[in-house]
Amino acid sequence: MYICICKGITEKMLQDQVTGFNRSEEQILKNLGIGDSCGSCVVDAVKKIIENQNKLDSKSSKSNS
Ligand code: FES
Repeated sequence: MYICICKGITEKMLQDQVTGFNRSEEQILKNLGIGDSCGSCVVDAVKKIIENQNKLDSKSSKSNS
């Protein structure tokens, strides 16, 4: 599924950017060029990034316990 139609960015491409490293939403958007054109995707993209960051956090906290 496309997150950013203007740039052809898929949900998977966005997901791949969310890693265990310290990356801000802004940095990920910038890396992929999300929002550079019409900007209508930014709110949904940020939601997806946060969702994926939370998933990653819960996975790492489970593996630490
Ligand atoms: S849909 Fe992402 S910039 Fe237009």
